[in-house]
Amino acid sequence: MADTAADRSANSRTPTGIPGLDKLLTGGLPKNRTILLCGGPGTGKTIMSSQFLVNGILDYEDAGVYVSLDENKVHIFEEMLDFGWDFEELESNKKLIFLEASPIRYLPAEIKVGKLTVGRKEFSMATLIEMIKTSVKEIGAKRIVVDPVTTLVFQYDGVVAQRNALVELMEALADTGATCLITTELRRPGFERSIDYEEYLAHGVILLQQLQVGKSLLRVIQIEKMRKTPVDNQPRPYRITDTGIEVFPRESVL
Ligand SMILES: Nc1ncnc2c1ncn2[C@@H]1O[C@H](COP(=O)(O)OP(=O)(O)OP(=O)(O)O)[C@@H](O)[C@H]1O
Ligand SMILES: [Mg+2]
Repeated sequence: MADTAADRSANSRTPTGIPGLDKLLTGGLPKNRTILLCGGPGTGKTIMSSQFLVNGILDYEDAGVYVSLDENKVHIFEEMLDFGWDFEELESNKKLIFLEASPIRYLPAEIKVGKLTVGRKEFSMATLIEMIKTSVKEIGAKRIVVDPVTTLVFQYDGVVAQRNALVELMEALADTGATCLITTELRRPGFERSIDYEEYLAHGVILLQQLQVGKSLLRVIQIEKMRKTPVDNQPRPYRITDTGIEVFPRESVL
């Protein structure tokens, strides 16, 4: 069979499997690249990241690694079960590894990353990177989520150190060969980012927002940038329901 442009394009994509989203992305996220998922509190970053991993496992046989920096494992597992996503089962079937690095925020004295417990001072990007690499190898992961990367980066003082930390993490993620979704929080509604260099380092940026329209809140998704990918970069509505996130690629919000 001839190798058509459509075939080549399909081979270079990692479908998110999220209803409507792959249409905006011409088939999915660019394979082996790191994409930034940017949004304020409650916009669905964790749900979308989880859905990306779960769909990968169930529909594409892509094992996944979830690095959680804000929320603990029990909470996330509980929340995701509401959508019918059984992280515990996926983990016991070696399709998913959940790395809980959330105590960075809550336990200044010691940090638990996977099975390792290390002191706050000794904890470094290197430790986390090592854990990610080991986990990726262990299950042959093709997808990685880091949620949210801001917690990790803000441990460092000053823009230069923060930028270097992020570069280090992103290079390590690229080395794994997986397709990576890293989330970041917006400081406040609108377009201002908590740190703005991250979007220049990422191969793509997806923005989630909540807009006040009259008395109701409208959820809006926009593909801000996606290198080497023809995308629909118009803002489009999305919904969160009890089956996860659904994007409406043909509806306009303006
Ligand atoms: N079953 C559901 N139906 C509709 N909306 C839901 C449902 N479950 C959760 N939500 C909505 O999803 C949002 C939370 O999603 P999620 O935790 O992914 O957000 P987030 O961007 O990760 O937030 P944070 O910045 O706090 O981590 C909330 O706004 C909540 O109202
Ligand atoms: Mg979250």
